Amino acid sequence: MGFFHLSLFVILGTFPAALLAQGVMYSSIAVNVTETIAETDENFVCATIDWWPHDKCNYNRCPWGYSSAINLNLSNPFLGRAIQAFKNLRIRIGGSLQDQVVYDVGKLKVPCHPFQKINNGLFGYSKGCLHMKRWDELNCLFRNNRVVVTFGLNALFGRHRIRQDAWGGDWDSSNARDFIRYTISKGYPVDSWEFGNELSGSGIGASVAAEQYGKDLIALRKVIDELYENSHVKPLLIAPGGFFDEGWYTKLLQVSGPGVINVMTHHIYNLGAGIDPNLVSKILSPLYLSEISKTFSDLQETIRKHGPWSSAWVGESGGAYNSGGRHVSNTFVNSFWYLDQLGMASKHNTKVYCRQSLIGGNYGLLNWSTSLPNPDYYSALLWHRLMGKGVLTVESNAPSHLRSYAHCSKGRVSRLDFLLC
Ligand SMILES: *[C@@H]1O[C@H](CO)[C@@H](O)[C@H](O)[C@H]1NC(C)=O
Ligand SMILES: *[C@@H]1O[C@H](CO)[C@@H](O)[C@H](O)[C@H]1NC(C)=O
Ligand SMILES: *[C@@H]1O[C@H](CO)[C@@H](O)[C@H](O)[C@H]1NC(C)=O
Repeated sequence: MGFFHLSLFVILGTFPAALLAQGVMYSSIAVNVTETIAETDENFVCATIDWWPHDKCNYNRCPWGYSSAINLNLSNPFLGRAIQAFKNLRIRIGGSLQDQVVYDVGKLKVPCHPFQKINNGLFGYSKGCLHMKRWDELNCLFRNNRVVVTFGLNALFGRHRIRQDAWGGDWDSSNARDFIRYTISKGYPVDSWEFGNELSGSGIGASVAAEQYGKDLIALRKVIDELYENSHVKPLLIAPGGFFDEGWYTKLLQVSGPGVINVMTHHIYNLGAGIDPNLVSKILSPLYLSEISKTFSDLQETIRKHGPWSSAWVGESGGAYNSGGRHVSNTFVNSFWYLDQLGMASKHNTKVYCRQSLIGGNYGLLNWSTSLPNPDYYSALLWHRLMGKGVLTVESNAPSHLRSYAHCSKGRVSRLDFLLC
């Protein structure tokens, strides 16, 4: 016998009444500690800050308030404390309007205006501008609270609409280059630069063909390599931050080639629209929750076959799309979905899982009007504190409503070769 440390997360959904009526049930759970089946990043738990302005509304409700990268009150002490509790929280800045953000730096040729509602604008909005003063303030919050930053770059800059929702033409890297140069000059440590948001496959709002996207990623890789030439840490290049589409993702890896993309990011909204009155029954159905595991294994297989130099992240996942479900995504029941996702993603070798959102919408880990934690905030914190990088297999004869996940404990190293935790 050796020493080992593992953390077991057991999630108990609602058992069918018929089963409970039979009285006490006994089940066994066995954890195999002879081999880890996957490994996550040290900072697996991640949350997003979006770009939506306060007038982004769905069905006459406007659940974003002042919670975006542009207008969030950064001096709210609750926000800082909530982030600090993680020691190192990974935050991804990105979302639908990301591909319309321009950076007010260098030779920017368009005026620096905030997002405005316009007819025929992508997602109903004009371009919006990030002032460098605001970027400085965001970085002040990040530095003070030891945030690990992923920033999503505008991947539509310089392109034009070629038909319906399809965009074409080469990406113009000049504004991103000036922005990254500014970021380096200020010493702001960006962990990863992400390229584009939901432009893969047939896109959400806009799409770009994989061949074109692959070429542009090679260009961005050159920009990063050049600008970070004298830095000892080089950020990761991650893409495409869209919905998994096997053909498109495969092509992207083939066209961009070895070593260009470090991480393939994908988004998950497997509960459907936030307005769906059946969200709770989906969340409590093991069969329903398991359906998305095919997406995880398909991506894993695509990476294994076509891009073994890269790994998988969930770059954005909020459960229900269109700002989440009111009185669902911010309540206790949502953790049955969220914790199961963290376990499932880990088992499929996903390195990072970014929850939409840290704050904003109905799915914020923090409530946007009070900045106080919702139940999922504590689920995220528990997972972050308990679950280490090594993922173990669990065998159980319990009914499918009992989900169990085991990892090596956080912060422990293996003491013996044959015992991994
Ligand atoms: C545990 O995992 C090892 C390695 O995959 C395997 O050989 C062994 O059979 C497993 N043990 C049990 C009890 O399933
Ligand atoms: C931001 O938060 C600080 C600290 O709670 C508060 O004093 C300030 O009034 C807030 N600013 C705005 C614009 O709400
Ligand atoms: C935020 O908190 C307020 C006050 O408790 C509550 O009425 C509201 O529903 C909450 N909103 C979200 C999205 O969590």
